[in-house]
Formats: sequence, structure tokens, C-alpha cells
Amino acid sequence: MENWIRIATLDDIPALGSRVVKTPQGDIALFRTADDQVFALHDRCPHKGGPLSQGMVFGHTVACPLHGWNINLESGEAVAPDVGCTKKLATRLEAGEVYLLA
Ligand code: FES
Repeated sequence: MENWIRIATLDDIPALGSRVVKTPQGDIALFRTADDQVFALHDRCPHKGGPLSQGMVFGHTVACPLHGWNINLESGEAVAPDVGCTKKLATRLEAGEVYLLA
């Protein structure tokens, strides 16, 4: 059975920014895009583990603050020519509340 956990409100996450949520699986970065969608990725860049939560969000992409790899927020995949993937978690936005699929 699906287990959705309420972890934040949309207002907790700055527009074009992120918020880190600590979980037993590690730090999860919640990103809010300009169109008010929320994406969740592990807060580790697939390159050398940079904190993606401190990167710049544009479109549905975040630029890692360390070496500038672009990571697709929808898939967790690095944008070519870079190759790698950060684990993504499913999110759901309902009445201003953000849920994470545990
Ligand atoms: S650690 Fe993210 S680009 Fe190098």
C-alpha cells in the first residue's frame, strides 16, 4: 500500500529554492519551481556529492553549487554531457501540503 507522509507546506519552500528534510534515508532536498511544482531528490549530487539543495533552480533543473552539473528534477538524471543519477522520491501536492511517498 502506498504510504504518503506529509512533510512540509508549499510555503515552507522558497520559490526557486529548496528546503532540506532529514529522514532515516538521509537528507532529502525539496525543490520548488517557478510553476509551483515540488520535486524531491536526495541532497547529493551524482558527481561528487555536492549539496543540491544549495544549487540554483531554473525550469525543472537544479545546478549543483560545486561544479555546475545540471540535474533534472523530474528524473534525478544529470543533463548531458554529464552522466549520473540522484535518487528521486515521489511527491504530491495537495491543498498547499507537500507529501512524500515513503
Ligand atoms: S559535486 Fe555536483 S557538480 Fe561536482
